[in-house]
Amino acid sequence: MNDANSLWGSRFEGGPSASLAALSRSVHFDWRLAKYDIAGTRAHIKALMSAGYLTSLEHEKLDRSLVELANRVENGSFVAKQSDEDVHSALERGLIEIAGPELGGKVRAGRSRNDQIATLIRIYLLDQSEVLHRLVIDLIEVILTRSEEHLGVAMPGRTHFQHAQPILLSHHLLAHAWPLVRDLERLQDFKKRASLSPYGAGALAGNTLGLDPNLVAAELGLQGPTQNSIDATASRDVVAEFLFITTLMSINLSRFSEEIIIWASAEFDYIKLHDSFSTGSSIMPQKKNPDIAELARGKSGRLIGNLTGLLATLKGLPLAYNRDLQEDKEPVFDSIDQLTLLLPAFTGMVATMQFNRNRLEMLAPLGFSLATDVAEWLVKKKVPFRDAHEITGKLVSWCEQHMLDLHEVADADMAAISPMLTPDVRDVLSVGGSIKARTGAGATALPRVLDQITALRKIAPKRNA
Ligand code: ARG
Repeated sequence: MNDANSLWGSRFEGGPSASLAALSRSVHFDWRLAKYDIAGTRAHIKALMSAGYLTSLEHEKLDRSLVELANRVENGSFVAKQSDEDVHSALERGLIEIAGPELGGKVRAGRSRNDQIATLIRIYLLDQSEVLHRLVIDLIEVILTRSEEHLGVAMPGRTHFQHAQPILLSHHLLAHAWPLVRDLERLQDFKKRASLSPYGAGALAGNTLGLDPNLVAAELGLQGPTQNSIDATASRDVVAEFLFITTLMSINLSRFSEEIIIWASAEFDYIKLHDSFSTGSSIMPQKKNPDIAELARGKSGRLIGNLTGLLATLKGLPLAYNRDLQEDKEPVFDSIDQLTLLLPAFTGMVATMQFNRNRLEMLAPLGFSLATDVAEWLVKKKVPFRDAHEITGKLVSWCEQHMLDLHEVADADMAAISPMLTPDVRDVLSVGGSIKARTGAGATALPRVLDQITALRKIAPKRNA
């Protein structure tokens, strides 16, 4: 055994080749699991004691050593070495430095890095889901606040990116909050599946020492042990699911970003980004660029890659553990890092962007966006919708030819298009009237938008309230 710290060298004649060691090494990225590894080990030594493999004195000494090791990791006085293969080997070395080889050497009994890593990644992701949860709540809160600030402001609603029907700006903004709420629900649901402990599964078949997996699960704050040791060590669907949720979050941010980028253009001029949340150009002094939104849009591609990369890794793997599974970590760490970087900047951008109310209101009725209101007005006059649609279509086409808006058509011209088009149709030809009339559940009328705000406020209460 060449390397005194290796967890597996004794049956090998020489040490690993430098190229293998470099390939195999994961400590430069799995080191972030150190505190979870120590938590797992503390739970494990309890199980060892309870099964009679450690006296309570030994357990106490080991536990104190692990607390000391955790402190050293935390304050940076214990770090991984170039020769450490992974976080598990590095921490065993650290424990032996503190507790001595005799006692420290007892800890590895009854567990494998396979059940260890499968457990650690779960408790790490459970922790990270709390971090993401808070960051997403912050964004929802800001969307809510912006919606409340602009109650009653109309804007063009679009389908196929063409003017469709007038809507309230608040309604549109809140449409970006709901997908995020569902992402939070997904995170919540993910926890059910993640909160199980693979500890005790050993390499794949379980252990012979009679260690109590319920004890370990409870120590780690998990719901209970996993049901199948092979599945427990070989599956990473929990990681894939977490990656899917983060990817969907980033896609939701990306769709919002795309709108912000368009809205900030001179042609749209819906919004102005705050100086502190936009960037300049090194050559064009006038430029103010929506880089946060662009990075959000760009990073969603990266997150999709992280998810699909892991799915491809998992696709052909026979049971049980294969070293391929080590490839789950960098993508999931990266997706988490990117989102935790992105979300505060994105939230700041949304919190500070200025809406051009007058322009939004001015554009709301353009593009014959009140045509549906005319058709539905006809329906209320008992005209079958098929005919109402046709009459309104003719009216729109007439307006296009004469370069007039719907409400500008003279009574006689309207009557010529259809006798059903009596002058009182003009009552519905206003943006305010159109919005006010849409009172169904989830629709754009102000009372319904206020309903949404009430519902969302339960999820994301006002800050400093
Ligand atoms: N680093 C590995 C992983 O991330 C865990 C170690 C298991 N290694 C092994 N040779 N059994 O999956």
